[in-house]
Formats: sequence, C-alpha cells, structure tokens
Amino acid sequence: MPIQFISDSKTFHLYNDSVSYIIKILPEGMPSHLYYGARLPLRDNYDYLMESIHRPMSVTRTENSSLSLEHIRSEFPSALSGDMRPGALCLRQANGSVITEFLYTSHSITKGKPALENLPACYVEGEEEAQTLVLVLEDALLHVRLELLYTIYENRPVLCRSARIVNDSDQQVILDTFLSASIDLPDDHYEMLDLAGAWARERHIDVHPLHTGCQSIYSLRGHSSHNFNPFLCLKKPWTTENTGEAFGFSLVYSGNFIASADVDTYNTTRVQLGINPTTFSWPLEQGESFQSPEAVLVYTKNGLNAMSQAFHSLFRQRLARGVWRDQARPILLNSWEGVYFDVREDEILHMAKEARDLGVDLFVLDDGWFKARNDDTSSLGDWVEDRSKLPHGLDGLSEQINNMGLEFGLWIEPEMISRHSDLFEAHPEWVLQVPGRRQSAGRNQYVLDFSNPQVVDAIYEQLRSLFDKISLSYVKWDMNRSLSEVYSLALDPSQQGTVYHRFILGVYRLYERLIERYPHILFESCASGGARFDPGMLYYAPQAWTSDDTDAIERLKIQYGTSMVYPISSMGSHVSACPNHQLNRYTPLKTRADVAYFGTFGYELNPIEMSEKEKEIVRKQIAFMKEHRELIQFGTFYRLRSPFDGNETAWMVVSEDQKTALVGYYRILQKVNSRYRRLFLQGLLPEQEYSISSFDYTQTGEELAQAGLIITDSSAGENNIDRSQGDFLSRLYLLRAID
Ligand code: GLA
Repeated sequence: MPIQFISDSKTFHLYNDSVSYIIKILPEGMPSHLYYGARLPLRDNYDYLMESIHRPMSVTRTENSSLSLEHIRSEFPSALSGDMRPGALCLRQANGSVITEFLYTSHSITKGKPALENLPACYVEGEEEAQTLVLVLEDALLHVRLELLYTIYENRPVLCRSARIVNDSDQQVILDTFLSASIDLPDDHYEMLDLAGAWARERHIDVHPLHTGCQSIYSLRGHSSHNFNPFLCLKKPWTTENTGEAFGFSLVYSGNFIASADVDTYNTTRVQLGINPTTFSWPLEQGESFQSPEAVLVYTKNGLNAMSQAFHSLFRQRLARGVWRDQARPILLNSWEGVYFDVREDEILHMAKEARDLGVDLFVLDDGWFKARNDDTSSLGDWVEDRSKLPHGLDGLSEQINNMGLEFGLWIEPEMISRHSDLFEAHPEWVLQVPGRRQSAGRNQYVLDFSNPQVVDAIYEQLRSLFDKISLSYVKWDMNRSLSEVYSLALDPSQQGTVYHRFILGVYRLYERLIERYPHILFESCASGGARFDPGMLYYAPQAWTSDDTDAIERLKIQYGTSMVYPISSMGSHVSACPNHQLNRYTPLKTRADVAYFGTFGYELNPIEMSEKEKEIVRKQIAFMKEHRELIQFGTFYRLRSPFDGNETAWMVVSEDQKTALVGYYRILQKVNSRYRRLFLQGLLPEQEYSISSFDYTQTGEELAQAGLIITDSSAGENNIDRSQGDFLSRLYLLRAID
C-alpha cells in the first residue's frame, strides 16, 4: 500500500522501499510538505517534522494565528498570498487581484496512473505498478478547483507530479503562472547539477553550490534548447557517482520551461519546475481546465549513477512507447555528412548498396530531397520530392533500397517554412508573426503557426500522402530554429499568451497522429542536433539525434552529460568521416566507433569514399554492434570516469542478468612514461568469475570492483610509449561470466 492516509493527523505518506514523501493538511486547510527523501518508518503522525517558528516581520494568516505561510513548507504555493517566496500558481481575476487561497476539500487514492490529456507522461502497464493520490483543493471565493496529482511507483524510486486547475466559476480567470511541481526542502546544503551547453556542445555537466537567492535554468526559445535541459539535480557536496544523496527533477515537456532552486535566508530550498511563466498567460473560461506537464522526481542515497539508472529505466520502459521501445535499434547510414544537399538518385543508390554490403540495416535520406531544396534558403513546407534529383520519386527510391535488403528512412522538418516555398505563397498567414513587425529569420527559415490546428492538419495531410506512397521505416523529425516574435494571426489578442504552449501541443498532436497511423515507423527527434532532447519528445520518438557534433572526443562529454538523465537507447550516435566536419580533427576509426556504440549507432558519411581497409574495419564494427546492441541499449549503464575531470573517460554497461558487460575506456592525449591506471567496475556479481577480452586471466566481480581492471599500457616498451596508439585512444573490454 504505497499511499497511506492517516486520517487523525490528516497526513499522506507516499512510500515504497526506497523513498518517502509526506504531506500534511494543516488545520487551516493548506497542504504542507513535511518530508521528501529516503524511506522513513511508518507512523501515525509526522507532526514533529513541522518546524513552526514565529519570526519577527512575518505576516500571519489572521490576527491571532501563528501560522505564517512564509515559514511553512508548501506543496503548491499561491503567489503573493502570504508566502513571500516564488509561487507555483498565479491567477489573475476579473477584479484585478492575483490573490488566491486553495484549501483542501477532498482526496482520492487510486491504483495505477491516469494519462494526462494531450500531454506526454509516464505510464504504467498494470494497475499494481503505481498508486496515484489526487489532492483536491478549492479557492472558495473564486470557485476554482486545484487538483494536485502524485503518482508513486511501487518498484522505482520515482514520484510523478502534475497539477490541474478547473474553473468552476462563472467568470474568466487568467493563469499567469501554473507550474508542475514545487518542493520545499529543509536544507540548502546542496550542489545544483544541470545540463548546459550550446549547439554542438549540448548537455555538458554544470555543477555549482547553491547560494542564497534564486538560481534557475530555463528556455524562452520555444523548444527545450541546446542551452539548458529541463532537468536539475540537487546533490550533497560529497555525493559521487556511486554514493550519496541526489534528487533529480525532470520535466516532461519540450517547450519553454523553468527549473529553479530558490534558497531563502532560513536555509530552506524551494525547487520548482514547469512551463516558463514569462511566455505564458492562459485565460480559463467557465468550465475550462488546464493540465500542467508532468514533473518526474527521483531520489536516491546511492549516488548519481543510481539516479540516472532510475531515469533511464523509467524513460525507456514507461515513457517511450510503441513497437521500437523494446527492440534493438537498426544500424543506419545517414546521408547528411556524406552528400549534404547534393542529393542525386544514382549516388544515393550507390551509397545504399555500399552501406548494405557493410551490414547496415537502414538507409536514411537526410535533408535535400524535396522540391528545389539545394541549400537552406528554400522549400521547407513543400513535402514533395524533387524529381530532378530523384527521377523515380521517393516511391521508386525506397523500393529500390528495399530491394537491396535495406530499410528506408527520411528526414523532415514539419514545423518550419521557407519564404521561397509554395506553402508560403499560398499561406503567408500561417507563419508566426507580429502584425506590422519584422520577423527574425533563423537558418533562413520561419516557424509555422502550430498553435493553429488548421496548420497542423495541413502539414499532416502533406505528410500522410507522402508516407502512404513510400515504404518508410524511419523518420528523422528535425527542428532547426528557435521561436521568436511569437504571435498567432489565428488567435484573438487576448489569447496570445497561450501561443508558445499551444505550439508545442500542436507538435505533440502531429506526432500522435503520425505514430497512430504509422505505428511501425521509428521516429528520431532532432533539433539542430540536440536542442529538443527532452522527456516530452521521448514519448513520441524513442530516440533523438544527440548533437550535430559527430567528433568522437567532443561526443564523450555530450554523451556522458546526456546519460545523466536519458537512456543509451535514446541517444543517436554516428561514426563520421575524418577530418571531422565540425572540428577538422582526425581520430582513429576505432575510437569513433567505440564512442558511437554507446547509443543507437550508425554512420554519417559517404561510404563510396571509404578505402577498402576502412570498409573492412567498418564491416567488423557493424558485426560487433549487431552482436552487442541489446546489451548496450538495454543494459544498466554506469559512468566510471568523467571527461569533465581530465584526460580520460570511462563508462560501462551491464546486462540485466549481470553476466555480460562492456567497458569503454577513452584517453584523449597520449602521455609519456604514463602512470599506472585502473578502472573500478560496477554492477557485476561479486562472486562471479569473468573472462575479460584481451586478458588471459579472469577476475571476479568483487575483484573488478575492489582491485580494479588494470588498464595500464602493457605494450608500452621503451619510454613507456605505445607507438601503435597515440592521441584519442579507445579500448573496449568485454566481460563474460564463466560458468
Ligand atoms: C540539422 C540536423 C542535421 C541535419 C541538418 C539538415 O542541422 O541536426 O543532422 O539533418 O539539419 O539540414
């Protein structure tokens, strides 16, 4: 029974083996937060956790009351209504006031987890997997109802939160802020870890101690962005990858978000996540409701690897959907870095044939295939093939590729429009634009008004007629610019504050319609590389293009950072040609594959240009990945050594039965007369004896964890330099249990 209601003390205890989350309804009716962290024993009363101190200068609820909202830990604080910290909700009313008071009226505890209307969310596969508490609160003056949803999974250290508001009154109210979760922790002794970056260096790990005041990450770009990810973690300064407390907070949303930690001067920390209020103002008419996106909370006392593993397994098994969820992913060849916009049928077929001979499963035709698309200045919005490039059309091309024994995949960018396009000629009003004002360009393109269902329908119809006639197994859905000057010509001025959110709902709706009609298609999301690598997207597309940076060394940081939250099976990772197109760097073909294996794996180059020697190596790489992709994509992933800390990176993946493991070790620069080195492995069976590829001795799991795997250069020779291996070295170690 993971949700216990103790009626005498009006306390809710949500718990499983690893976590406890405790809420108390105060005598005045507010839900107050008492505890979140490691599992506590069951008792009838947790009132000792309320620290109610009457402090000077505090406002109290009434004259004789000692209750100051400023000094309680709140479950969902109303802005400016006695709690002096940032609110989770701000509701503008007809009389101009924003003051609200939501008090408990009832609750329900049910088995399972309800779906969220029109929004991506984690799910259950049987009612026994989770329980859901809905706290129903009401502002009695306004007749507005607030429902706080909490789902706790039985066997995961995971809690999902969201909120829903219903206008039961006969007047309009305007939601100016409506977050997904607000959590007050009685401590500020944490470091905040977030994933920050930019194009081609997405999701680098950023750690800093909390300071008094507010620290936040956010997006105002209309997509979750390269710059910040909708995720933050609070960890103790002594927390490591394998020990210590960590709270992970992730928002299942792909649009403008905010995630913040606000430390007050009494050392409490308020963590909040949700839709960014800066670009949000949502009128609620009589009878209407609004559902916030879902926030996923993970708690562990066993370090960052344990936190990440909880996210990985939840997002892989209970957020991603469809036939591809549990299937090893196809090894693909993507045409982008091979030919860019220079798409020609004969060359594409030649590339496909070479790819097939190498063992590739799927050929992906990237940008450049549709009408007059010779560079990035035109044609977005016209989803019809360019017959001068593809004389037999996409149907002819896909058929020929299928006949070779390869699956066929295609690139699209459905949310975008070029001024030079038939769609723009026909519907200039379908572009997001402010009347009378200049519209900023991004990559020479503009953004379609996906807040307008008519636009989404029209794009759906174009894609439907295209997809229906070709044999398509995979779609890469790209999105190559941020939104700016956002305004919908289809909406009333009073509705303009809804456009950013409606836009992302339009994206979700189009995804949903396409996956419903084409359930066999594997979708990979993309946004100039990894600008929309977020849990919202994973609900529709089980994999995402991690970054436009395909350099193996840069990818170490990008993939390592991404692994903080996202499963290996979701990370698009390809081997590309050298010199690398982003950095002009040469890295060994082995290293490029050894990094790309830890993802969905593929190639992004022109195989026609490869030498016979390279092809021989690639053939072996593909065979290796085919043998081990289940282990890599569905095993348990451990980070061992961080690229943010120095010259070396290491990680490993362990099969579910703990009988097989693959360790990846990467050294950026070669060193003279280098030190002795060991890797301390994780996740193996302590007593089990393992064989280790390239070693003629065996070790037990315990030995590999405690004494370590010796990775000192053994063939170093004079001066301890191995002349066969220089900079950018990588090694893989395959471990197998010996029966
Ligand atoms: C974006 C993507 C790339 C490629 C190009 C095509 O930059 O991230 O992978 O698809 O668009 O224009």
